[in-house]
Amino acid sequence: MSRERITGLLDRAEALMAHAHGGVSLREKLAGRTLCTLFFEASTRTRCSFQLAGQRLGMDVLNVDISTASTKKGETDADTLRTLEAMGVDAFVVRHARDGAVADLAAVAGAGTSLLNAGDGRSDHPTQGLLDMLALRSRFGADLSALRVAIVGDIRHSRVARSDIHALQALGCTDLRLCGPSSLMPEATEFPDLVRVDAMDEAIAGCHAVIMLRLQRERMEQGLVPSLEDYFRSHGMDGRRLLRLDPTGVVLHPGPINRGVEIAAEVADGPRSLILKQVACGLPARMAALLELLEG
Ligand code: NCD
Repeated sequence: MSRERITGLLDRAEALMAHAHGGVSLREKLAGRTLCTLFFEASTRTRCSFQLAGQRLGMDVLNVDISTASTKKGETDADTLRTLEAMGVDAFVVRHARDGAVADLAAVAGAGTSLLNAGDGRSDHPTQGLLDMLALRSRFGADLSALRVAIVGDIRHSRVARSDIHALQALGCTDLRLCGPSSLMPEATEFPDLVRVDAMDEAIAGCHAVIMLRLQRERMEQGLVPSLEDYFRSHGMDGRRLLRLDPTGVVLHPGPINRGVEIAAEVADGPRSLILKQVACGLPARMAALLELLEG
């Protein structure tokens, strides 16, 4: 997505912010349209906020829990999608463990059907990228280009990191540092123009934003991390490390957080944590995405 497209979505989300949690009713906007959340992987924040975003815009919302659906009886993902499409679903929000799975489903969907990627494998999580930018805008204003940002942790397996990197670069951020144990860093060829800093204390020095990531153990081969205690010591965010940020600096985490593994409770719950702000931004960001695709 281009800078213009991302900025347009963020402006739209910002204008919706006041209405995302009540306020003026927008239930006329997409009344009569149907949204289906189709999650082949676990989710709390993304699925629930897409459901609420659809409802606040007046949509009928179907939530399909794949653990109890017919895929368990051998139905293919494509047949599940076509079946739900036949019930009049206009838009699917899809999360899948496999890279590219959402694009594959989009290729078999009908011409008038929209698909929104809610996270596929380690590839992309575009609405998380949007909501993270929205949370940063709420703190630093619309121009994010001068921010110093570090992304810390399991970057190799993180679709959030990939979508955040894409968004930050598109929005002109040039001081973007990647930090993690070498076993959890992406291939050197993937982000050749980004700075990689091994030591966390150095990576976060003077940063305006540090984006912490969960260890994606479900996507890891065994043994990539020595022990959780060692990991926290080398790459965890605690109160002492927080002092190394710029005085205005904030800490983000897409959730779910593992307290004491990536982030200390005192930081997660402290005044410089944007974690719940990120969650709150998920609603307007997803409302903006739905409107962009479905309005008119
Ligand atoms: C993320 C995801 O599923 O990619 N969660 C989320 O959507 N907020 C990050 C994670 O699971 O660690």
